[in-house]
Amino acid sequence: MPMKRFEKTESDLYSEVCRAVDSIRKVTDFVPQIAIVLGTGLGDLVQKFKNPVAIDYAGIEHFPVSTVESHVGKLVFGELAGKKIVAMQGRFHFYEGYTMREVAFPIRVMKQLGAEILVVLNAAGGLDLSYRKGEIVIIEDHINLMGDNPLIGTNEDRLGSRFPDMAQPYTARLAGLAEEAAREEKIPVRRGVYLAISGPNLETRAEYRMMRMLGADLVGMSTVPEVIAGVHMDMQILGLSVVTDLCDPDHLHPVDIKDIIKTANEAGPRLDRLLEAVVKKI
Ligand code: HPA
Repeated sequence: MPMKRFEKTESDLYSEVCRAVDSIRKVTDFVPQIAIVLGTGLGDLVQKFKNPVAIDYAGIEHFPVSTVESHVGKLVFGELAGKKIVAMQGRFHFYEGYTMREVAFPIRVMKQLGAEILVVLNAAGGLDLSYRKGEIVIIEDHINLMGDNPLIGTNEDRLGSRFPDMAQPYTARLAGLAEEAAREEKIPVRRGVYLAISGPNLETRAEYRMMRMLGADLVGMSTVPEVIAGVHMDMQILGLSVVTDLCDPDHLHPVDIKDIIKTANEAGPRLDRLLEAVVKKI
């Protein structure tokens, strides 16, 4: 089926965001400071929230509906380390068939609710072979090889500018706070460049070699559309990856998605501890 990206104008998008906000406002008047997108196998953070309020995506007008089995689809509002948070438990992936605009839609809604800071988590493959399985990497920069972009189409100036700058999509101050928190919590962290591909297949050995040559340290199928929309709306952004497998083209073993989820789950408590410490510093 041909893509329908030009069927809707950007002002339709803006009114859809407003209607989504209206349906959330019927349930809660919570104004979040920080939006967090929880990644594959990384949804447990919300259990630490004080006074949580959860809203199913299905109850929010214009929200896409989650299809991946390992993801629940809920927006969870609550307090963590004294800060007001909204977390996406379950994200939308381009490979599921959503358009890039749909993938980015919840970020626009969370910004409209009040969040100025966006924290994006993911499970990623490690192209830098000095990474270890389960290690946490602070995303310094990204390469968009998804072959699409959530900002294509007419631009709505109420959301952001036509040609947003990408000189520093990931806020240096937040990366610094994450490193500081990691040191205090004695959690080893690394830094790296995240390369996004559409998926859903994993990569060939030749592709891994190419990605490494391009300057990427991590590879995954998410995050970049959300970050682009976040930058478009002038949000401050922190990206964190959990390395779930190493992508060594010379010793490549088939990866099992269950293994990836298991590694992400095992890293979960460490990442949650780091996030709580970072949020406290923000
Ligand atoms: N590619 C390879 N390994 C991975 C990925 C990916 O997109 N995501 C998590 N581990």
